[in-house]
Amino acid sequence: MINNVQAIILAAGKSTRFNTEKTKLAETICGQAMILFPTKLLAELEIPTTVIIGYQKEIVKNIITKEHNNSIEFVVQEQQNGTGHALACSKDLWHHDHILVLNGDVPLITKDILVSLYNEHTKNNAAISFIISCNPDPTSKGYGKVIKTATSIEIVEAKDFTGNPHDHCCINAGIYLINKTFLQNYIANLNNNNANNEFYITDLVKIASQNNLGVSTIHAPFDTIRGINTFQELWAAEQIKRSELIKYWMDNGVRFSLAHHVHLGLNVHIGQGSYIGGGVHLLGNTTIGNNCTIAEFSSLENVILEDNVTIHPHCLVKNAFIQSGAEIGPFAHVRSNVTIGKNSSIGNFVEVKNSTIGTETKAKHLTYIGDAAIGSHVNIGAGTITCNYNGITKNKTVIKDNAFIGSNNTLIAPITIGDNAFTAAGSTITDDVPDNALAIARSCQTNKKNYAEKLKKRSPQQKDASPDDFSFIGARVIYPDTPADDL
Ligand code: UD1
Ligand code: CA
Repeated sequence: MINNVQAIILAAGKSTRFNTEKTKLAETICGQAMILFPTKLLAELEIPTTVIIGYQKEIVKNIITKEHNNSIEFVVQEQQNGTGHALACSKDLWHHDHILVLNGDVPLITKDILVSLYNEHTKNNAAISFIISCNPDPTSKGYGKVIKTATSIEIVEAKDFTGNPHDHCCINAGIYLINKTFLQNYIANLNNNNANNEFYITDLVKIASQNNLGVSTIHAPFDTIRGINTFQELWAAEQIKRSELIKYWMDNGVRFSLAHHVHLGLNVHIGQGSYIGGGVHLLGNTTIGNNCTIAEFSSLENVILEDNVTIHPHCLVKNAFIQSGAEIGPFAHVRSNVTIGKNSSIGNFVEVKNSTIGTETKAKHLTYIGDAAIGSHVNIGAGTITCNYNGITKNKTVIKDNAFIGSNNTLIAPITIGDNAFTAAGSTITDDVPDNALAIARSCQTNKKNYAEKLKKRSPQQKDASPDDFSFIGARVIYPDTPADDL
């Protein structure tokens, strides 16, 4: 395997071509920051790594440190004077015989290609080895062109290139393995006499060639070495990565109805027999069990689904644990530390936040459940609201097993509804309900026999009627001429 190699990742650049403030290295591809693609690959290969940072250095450093703790060293390039200058900034840290230099914006590179580069470099005892590829669009400005003759090789940057682009489709991938002694001897020979007035790392190839020191190259497929300088290139790279992931899960027994219309993160796991609809987003650390359905336009982030779970269309589910056989949605919002028990059902226009729900419990329509512990076999009627917030603190609602909450209940927390208890529809429950009790908390209805006749007599068509007499029209039956005890 790879021996006596250390890696330097160039990650100090300004991301000018992205036309945004934010460094491109913090942009994500399938949920992972671009800079973590090379750092994680090098960690897997056990190659000690230094990252050159500069532009938005704290952001880049934080992303890396969060993933790798303190196993990666950083060097600051104060001024962005080019890739050659960035590499030179790390010269005090060159301890190994071979220095592997990678641009930070080449996220699709694979282990196999790096191993091939190493094998070719050591076999030829080269001063410098690098990866080249055939660019399907030779007119594109993003890459340095590799110009070879029988006796020489050099890389000419797009801005400095004056020949016919179609004659030179071979491009430089931005990944180099360099002999340390060669580097130490020649790094000072780089100059900035070019269109960008920058010190180019690529000139090391010409320097090695002119001094008859060995230069070797390997070829790699263009899709594996795409550099990301623009949002278009980021979009293309993400499509490639996402396709790889989707094909992988397809091979493992997952059906995607509209594969091109799904967003999938690197840390998502999907069990066999599961179905993923169009427009679905599966993000963060999400694990989906076997035979689950995630229907159209639902988004899941940091969610664990056991087997046989159904997420109906248009649901947003975040930080939740959904046990087997449960059903969510359509149009449900489940968020912030939620457990939904086995075979339970959370229906349309239901929001569940920071709550646990037991086995075979149902809340099927238009409900808010927040900061609640709900038992098993509970039925929550349509339009029920847990009033968890008094403007200052959040309070807990406890609903015990087998309770039945009537429709349109307002449960004012903190409150406990006992085992087997009932609450009547339309109740505002302010006090705990004991086990097995029925709580009714609503105004009583009175029916006045044949009262409609009287009311009609006071209809607006009547000449002597004043508009005030008709305030009863609507929910309130208050009628000025009626003695109070007659109501
Ligand atoms: C570079 C190569 C080009 C190659 C292409 C492959 C040079 C001069 N050109 O061009 O031949 O085809 O990559 O993708 O190297 N950086 C610094 N400090 C700086 C400038 C850049 O750390 O002062 C970092 C950037 O953050 C980036 C990497 O170096 O990660 C490459 O820089 P970039 O400007 O993207 O180089 P390209 O123009 O793509
Ligand atoms: Ca680049």
